[in-house]
Amino acid sequence: MNIIEIITKKKNKQVLSQKEIDFFVQGYTNNTITDYQAAALIMAIYINGMTEEETLNLTISMTKSGNILDLSDIAENIVDKHSTGGIGDKVTLIAMPIIASLGIPVVKMSGRGLGITGGTEDKLEAIPGYHTRIPIEELKQNVKDIGISLVAQTEDLVPADKKLYALRDAIGCVDSIPLIASSIMSKKIALGANGIVLDITCGKGAFMQDICQARELAKMCAMIGKLAKKQIVCVLTNMDEPLGYAVGNTLEVIEAVKALQGEMAEDVKEVVVAIVMQMMYLSGKYPYVKENEKKVMEVIRNGRAYEKLKELVQKQGGDVNYIENIENFPKAPWIEPVIAEKTGWVETLDAEIVGEIGLLLGIGRQKKEDAIDPM
Ligand code: URA
Repeated sequence: MNIIEIITKKKNKQVLSQKEIDFFVQGYTNNTITDYQAAALIMAIYINGMTEEETLNLTISMTKSGNILDLSDIAENIVDKHSTGGIGDKVTLIAMPIIASLGIPVVKMSGRGLGITGGTEDKLEAIPGYHTRIPIEELKQNVKDIGISLVAQTEDLVPADKKLYALRDAIGCVDSIPLIASSIMSKKIALGANGIVLDITCGKGAFMQDICQARELAKMCAMIGKLAKKQIVCVLTNMDEPLGYAVGNTLEVIEAVKALQGEMAEDVKEVVVAIVMQMMYLSGKYPYVKENEKKVMEVIRNGRAYEKLKELVQKQGGDVNYIENIENFPKAPWIEPVIAEKTGWVETLDAEIVGEIGLLLGIGRQKKEDAIDPM
C-alpha cells in the first residue's frame, strides 16, 4: 500500500478501505506521509466526499491515533458538549458551571480558536493565572473535589486531529461534513464521555452555511455516536449574527460572569438552556427534559452556578478577584465608540464580518503560531 495509490483512488471517486484510511492516518501522524501528500488526499476527500462507512473508519483511525481517557473512576456517566464554532460563543463558560452546580460532574477539554471562530482555551487563558494545562491526575482530582474541570486538550488526545485540523485550515478544507464529523467525534470518543450534546452552528459565521447542511452534519455525527455506543443529542443553532453582545476573549469571560450573575442576553440564554437541558437529561439524573429549564434558572438565581465558576477558577490557579470584580480585567488600550448618525435600530450584524474584524484585532490566530491579544 502506498499513499499515492490512496490519493489516486479518492481522486477517482472510489471508496477507501479501513486499511487504507488507517495507513493514511497513522502515516500522517508519525510523519511518514508528508504535508503535501496529506493535503492532496484531504482536498480529494473535500471534493469527492466520503461514504458513511469511510467517515466512521476515519473517526476510528483518528481516535486510535492517541490515548483514550478512562474517566469511569470519576462518575458512571460523564456528559460533554461540543460546538462546531461560533462568533461570540461563550456557552461552555456558562453552561459547564451550571451543570456542575446541578451535581453532574463535568470535564471539558477545549481547543484554541482557529480561523474566525473563537476557542474556549483562549477564553480561559484570559483569566489571569488560570492553568489550562494540568496533568490528567490533577484534572480527575479537581472533578472529584468540586465536580468540574475545564482544560486544554492534551497533546496525546487525538494527535491526528491536531495535524489534520491545522492542515485543513491552511488549505481551505474545514467546511466538509465527513472531515468535521470525524474531527469532532474522534475527540469526543477519546475523551470517554457517554453522553454528548453537539451544538451544530449554521449561518454566516459558521462552517455550515445552511440548515440542510447542518442537519446532514448532525445526522453523520449521530450515526457515528450511535455506533460508538454514545448517546448523542444535536442542537442546531443560528450563527448569522454573533452570540450575545461581546466578541473577544476577555470581553466574553466578562459576559459569561455576568450571565452567571443573572444578566444573560436572550440569545445566549436560549442556547445555554437548550444545551444544559439536554446534558442534564443525558446525565441520567434529570430524566424530565421539560422540567430542566426551571432548575437551570434556579441555580443561576440562587448564585450556585456563579459560585461554581469561582471555585473552578480558584482550583485551577486563577485569580478570583477578577471574577468578583470584573472591572479589574485589563482593557483594550483604546476604545472607539461608534455613534449612530441618526435614530433607528440595527437590523442585522453579520457574524462573519465581526469574526474577521476580531481576527485582525488579535482575538484569534491567522497562523497556528500567532500570539493572541486577550483584550
Ligand atoms: N470543530 C472541530 O473540532 N473540528 C472541526 O473540523 C470543526 C469544528
